[in-house]
Amino acid sequence: MWPNLRRPPPPKPGALRRRLYRRLGVALIVLLGLLGTLAWRYANTASERAFDHLLSASALTLAEGFRLEGNALRADVPPSAFAMLARLTDDRVFYRLLDDDGRTITGYPDLLPPPAPDARQDASEPQFVTTTYKDVPIRLVAVRRLLTQGERPRWAVTLVAQTLVQRQAQALEMGGYAVLGLLVLAGAAAAMIGLAVTEALRPIVDLKQVIADRDPRDFTPLRQPVPEEIQPLQRALNSLLARFESSLTETRTFLADATHQVRTPLASVITQTEVALRDATPAQQEQLQRILRNARSAARIADQLLTDATIGNRLELTPRTPLALARLCADVINDRLGGAGDTSLRLFISDDTSATAEILGDRGALADALRNLIDNALKYGPATGPVEINLHSDANHLNVTVRDYGPGIAPEDRPRVLRRFERGSSRLPADRLGGSGLGLAIVQRVVRGHGGQIDLLNADGGGLAVTLRFPHLPEGETQK
Ligand SMILES: Nc1ncnc2c1ncn2[C@@H]1O[C@H](COP(=O)(O)OP(=O)(O)OP(=O)(O)O)[C@@H](O)[C@H]1O
Ligand SMILES: [Mg+2]
Repeated sequence: MWPNLRRPPPPKPGALRRRLYRRLGVALIVLLGLLGTLAWRYANTASERAFDHLLSASALTLAEGFRLEGNALRADVPPSAFAMLARLTDDRVFYRLLDDDGRTITGYPDLLPPPAPDARQDASEPQFVTTTYKDVPIRLVAVRRLLTQGERPRWAVTLVAQTLVQRQAQALEMGGYAVLGLLVLAGAAAAMIGLAVTEALRPIVDLKQVIADRDPRDFTPLRQPVPEEIQPLQRALNSLLARFESSLTETRTFLADATHQVRTPLASVITQTEVALRDATPAQQEQLQRILRNARSAARIADQLLTDATIGNRLELTPRTPLALARLCADVINDRLGGAGDTSLRLFISDDTSATAEILGDRGALADALRNLIDNALKYGPATGPVEINLHSDANHLNVTVRDYGPGIAPEDRPRVLRRFERGSSRLPADRLGGSGLGLAIVQRVVRGHGGQIDLLNADGGGLAVTLRFPHLPEGETQK
């Protein structure tokens, strides 16, 4: 069986923060629901108790009005009995006083019969029930009083009922306040959760920022203070940095060695062939020329391959310095010119700004790019040139254009020739066509590494014009 190679999908940005919010949010909502229910029930019970207390007080006062006359029950209704209930203006009050035979002595005779006495509690305790009377919900209290002054003891029953309008309003108000208080508390808790999560993630965010702000050439260990929980992560990153640095050093050494190993024997072949050419017969000369061409082509390909392989590292690792592009162009051109009478390369500087303007760049890489463009112009254009190098600037860019008078590149070929190992279809003598197809790809990488862009255009009057556009030097940066 193959081991399970499926990796978990990479976490989305901010996933950790979202997960924490989700979990804490759910816990908060559950807690809120629980507390809300408790608070609501408590408010209802408290309101019910307060109103029941008034109701039973009123019933007890009414019950005081009973007396026994002989064997008959009589009742007076003291007006004070309803004084407390009368304050609840929105509600209606009903009462009924009856004897133990169920006969109404006074009050609403059709008010519900009293609830059966609860065997578990004292018979003289007020007994409450919520029910309806004339289709209106009411709360009813029954109070039983035993009268013993007559010939035989008798139970007198007092019923007082009240509609629920104010009772419900009060419960709603108290519950509402309790829930409102809870919501305020929840808002504060949510804000605190937000703060706590941000605070807890801050060391990770800070670490990320430190890594992002780092110079790509800096492989020294991360040393900023981090909480104990983050230390293993920092140690792992430091170990990765150390391994990365050592592997980079190894690659660079290998590339330098490889350059040397390939170039040295090829240079030797070229030198020896050139020496042999001097004393060769015409027949031998032809063969030696062919060897020379192939050796030069191989040396060129080796050079281009090595430049291509190292340019990425170079752009990444070499510090950029402000440099004058006009000076650089002049130096590269001078290196290329054959002697005092050679006019194949001409430098034009269109204005004073372009003559002195600087860009932030890597001199070696930019010189490589320019050399490649000049090589192409000389290789694909007329052998004697001229090749014109034009320096001009606009508001945002300092531009250098290398223009020849050759066949140019067909528009449909232009995107293709910028890719590695892609060559165009220029019709040229066989001996001048050698090349690896890497030159323009290298140029493009250099330009992009400097925040610029490359444009290929067939110039008016024939020939190719390659323009490299570089952003101007940022304000405040000058040549040291
Ligand atoms: N000035 C030019 N005029 C016409 N065609 C050109 C010009 N410059 C480049 N090309 C075309 O673009 C192709 C790619 O050029 P590039 O410089 O990348 O490779 P190369 O010149 O073939 O090889 P090398 O890596 O040795 O430079 C060339 O093969 C050629 O067809
Ligand atoms: Mg080329």
